[in-house]
Amino acid sequence: MKGEGNASEDNSGKQQEILINKIHRLKKRKNAIVLAHYYQVPEIQEVADYVGDSLGLAQQAAQTHADLIAFAGVHFMAETAKLLNPQKKVVLPDLQAGCSLADSLPPDQFEQFINQHPGHTIITYINCSADIKAMSDIICTSSNAEQIIRSIPANQPIIFAPDINLGRYLIKKTGRHMQLWNGACVVHQSFAIEKLLALHRQHPDAKIIAHPEAEEHILKVAHYIGSTAGMIKYVSQDRSSKYIVATEAGILHQMTKTVPDKILIPAPSHEDNTCACSECGFMKMNTLEKLYLSMDTEGPEITLREETRTKALAPLLRMLELSKN
Ligand code: 13P
Ligand code: SF4
Repeated sequence: MKGEGNASEDNSGKQQEILINKIHRLKKRKNAIVLAHYYQVPEIQEVADYVGDSLGLAQQAAQTHADLIAFAGVHFMAETAKLLNPQKKVVLPDLQAGCSLADSLPPDQFEQFINQHPGHTIITYINCSADIKAMSDIICTSSNAEQIIRSIPANQPIIFAPDINLGRYLIKKTGRHMQLWNGACVVHQSFAIEKLLALHRQHPDAKIIAHPEAEEHILKVAHYIGSTAGMIKYVSQDRSSKYIVATEAGILHQMTKTVPDKILIPAPSHEDNTCACSECGFMKMNTLEKLYLSMDTEGPEITLREETRTKALAPLLRMLELSKN
């Protein structure tokens, strides 16, 4: 039995190596770039030209000279790349790779919400559709949300959507009153506070680090709160040697590479008693094989109506301009 297991592992290792070589060849032949989010499976992160958070990925998309952008992330991220690159082909390995947070903000309901709060500046978190971006004044990510809010005059009322946990955190941080949409991320809602505290009691020397999409009671006990890129930077600069990480488990790949000598423990979620990890099912829809196929066939492709694209681009460019330094 053991021999058989090793043989099938060898086989899948070889298949993976073949796919990796094919992807590298396609990159050269098609002048293609692979952009990947930290939540992608390790083998996709390894083959990518750039791995980053939502802001970093948008910045890379804005400056690339590639003809084909293979976006290993979720739909709103690939759509953001397309907003910035109307002449280029942007492919997403699996078109079903959505986002529960983006889905929590349907455009017709948001229009009603905006009408109920006239005169407000509309700040939307990048985890939303192009239709929502087209209704916004400025976009933000978890990396720059505080800076974006502070750029709005103090007496100007603000609508913030769709993430209610991030919104509440930002109200606390900036002291600004904002009208919040009640949306959330399934992954970050799943962290269990009792289990987290019990885990911390077992590892009292560990620091808790959390993504601001996590619920208020999780953020309350966190020693550091930040975007995925912010969390990786924090563990590389902080002096502690152990961290409990409250975000999607895919981040552990780059984090481990960045701080190989530190101990990283995934924060426990409600459902999961076995592996203590939280995974985004949408992010994990992309596989190395689907990535290869998307580059080979140049599909599935992200397409946008030109009117939506130009309307959605303006608030995105405003964000990129404010995030330059
Ligand atoms: P970051 O921009 O911090 O990587 O967040 C993206 C995301 O989808 C978090 O769930
Ligand atoms: Fe969306 Fe949450 Fe997945 Fe991020 S982790 S892509 S916010 S569902």
